[in-house]
Order: sequence, then structure tokens, then C-alpha cells
Amino acid sequence: MSSETRTRTTRLRRYLMCRPSHFEVTYSINPWMDPAKPVDTELAVAQWESLRDLYLSLGHTVEFIEPIAGLPDMVYAANGATVVDGKVLGARFRNAERAAEGPAYLDWFRANGFTELWDPTEINEGEGDFLVTGQHVLAGQGFRSSRDGHAEAQEFLGRPVVGLELTDPAYYHLDTALAVLDDDEVMYNPATFSPGSRAVLERLFPDAVLAEPRDAAVFGLNAVSDGRNVMLPEAATGLAEQLRARGFHPIGVDLSELLKGGGSVKCCTLELREPR
Ligand code: ARG
Repeated sequence: MSSETRTRTTRLRRYLMCRPSHFEVTYSINPWMDPAKPVDTELAVAQWESLRDLYLSLGHTVEFIEPIAGLPDMVYAANGATVVDGKVLGARFRNAERAAEGPAYLDWFRANGFTELWDPTEINEGEGDFLVTGQHVLAGQGFRSSRDGHAEAQEFLGRPVVGLELTDPAYYHLDTALAVLDDDEVMYNPATFSPGSRAVLERLFPDAVLAEPRDAAVFGLNAVSDGRNVMLPEAATGLAEQLRARGFHPIGVDLSELLKGGGSVKCCTLELREPR
């Protein structure tokens, strides 16, 4: 069967999200954040609710963590932890502004029945930098998560961690440069990886969807896939076309306000993976 006619199947997921009730841009820790630019918090909430409703309408389960005033980036739940086989690797942030989010997320997991938890000593920004495929954990480095953080993740999760070097500060987390579509299928923007990391990606995923820079620039790679539906920023029209050609069902989402913090669909979504 050619990839064009391939039938894709949804696997129902459980996601954790955090309502952007306290979202604003009061500091700048990535090139997208400009504290001088106004943010419409109400609009951010409405856009976030549409994403939540979309997940629910597709049959996914969504859990919620209570937002904390003074932690505007807490809406980016993907950074709160990495959950694989029901094991929870907590996050430790590089920037002081976000430091309190790590313990806040770990508290949520403790209160919600997760028993295998690891409070990290090394820097890792959760699923901002760790992306889970069928075989590996792909791990971004260069701006936020550290190599020691990768090693700590490998030891705790018991999955091979593949470090990938990010080279463009606008794509400071791996989930702004690459998305996992299915167990062993990914899409990425080659321009934002070091030559060695590009070669690793070509070797692991020779059949990957390669994103055009213009789709990456509207955060098209900050996408969530359930195996069939791919939720991505609606402006990434070229990428949506490429996905459709592979048999996926792309669904465009407008999260323009949250883009002002340097995040989109995937950043707002943390997958809670049980053992399979
Ligand atoms: N302002 C946040 C930061 O710079 C955005 C995080 C986006 N999240 C993500 N998973 N890429 O840390």
C-alpha cells in the first residue's frame, strides 16, 4: 500500500492542560516573547478552550491542573513533565521565571494517583524537549534541556534517549522543530538542527515529513497527533497539505495569543502515557 492511501487510526489519549487564566508576557526568555506587546488573556482562554473542546470532541480525555498566579507560562503544560509508561519525570527549568512550575506539576501527579515519580536534579523542560516515539525518546539540547538531563531521563524512563542539537534560538525547544506523528513517523524542519543531528534524523526516519521553513515559522511543527488527527496551527497550510497526502487528518487551530509566549498546540498539551 502506498503511503498516499494509508489508513490512519486514532488511538485515544489522555492529556493534561492548564487554563491560561494568568497568561501574560511579563518577561522574555525566547525570541517570540515581547513584554511590550499587549496580550489579550480572555482571547487566550477562549482559544485554549477551543483546543480543549476539540480534544474532547475527538474522544480524548483531558485532565486539568490549576493555574497559579505569577506563573504565566504554566499554560504550556508540555513543559511540566514527561510521562512514559505511567512513569513521571518531573521538569527542572533553565530560567528562574519558570522554576516553580516543576514542583507544581509534580504535586499534581502525586495528587492524581501517579506513584512512580522522579524529581530531577538536572535541567530538562519536559516534553518541550523530550518527544516520545515507539522506540526512542528524542531529546532537544542547545537552548534549554541539558545533556545531563537527557542522561537522567534515560536512566529513569529506561528508553534510549537520542540527543538532537538545536541551532536556531527561535526554535529553542525540540517541540518547535519536530513533531511525532505516529510511533515511528515524524515531521521536522531540517534547517534548525546541527548537521550531525540532521544525519541522525535521516537515519532514524528516512521517510519523515520535511517541513518548509514558512510552516515552521508559524509554529506548524508544534503539533499533536493522535495517530490520525493532527492538531496544528491553522497558518501551517503547506504542512497540512503534506499531512493529508500521507493519510493524516490535519486540523488547524488558532492559538495566536499563546504564540506571543512562544508556544502553540503541542506546548499546551502534555500526554499522559500509560503502559501499553
Ligand atoms: N514562554 C515559554 C518558554 O519560553 C514557552 C514554552 C513553550 N512550550 C513548549 N513546549 N515549547 O519557556
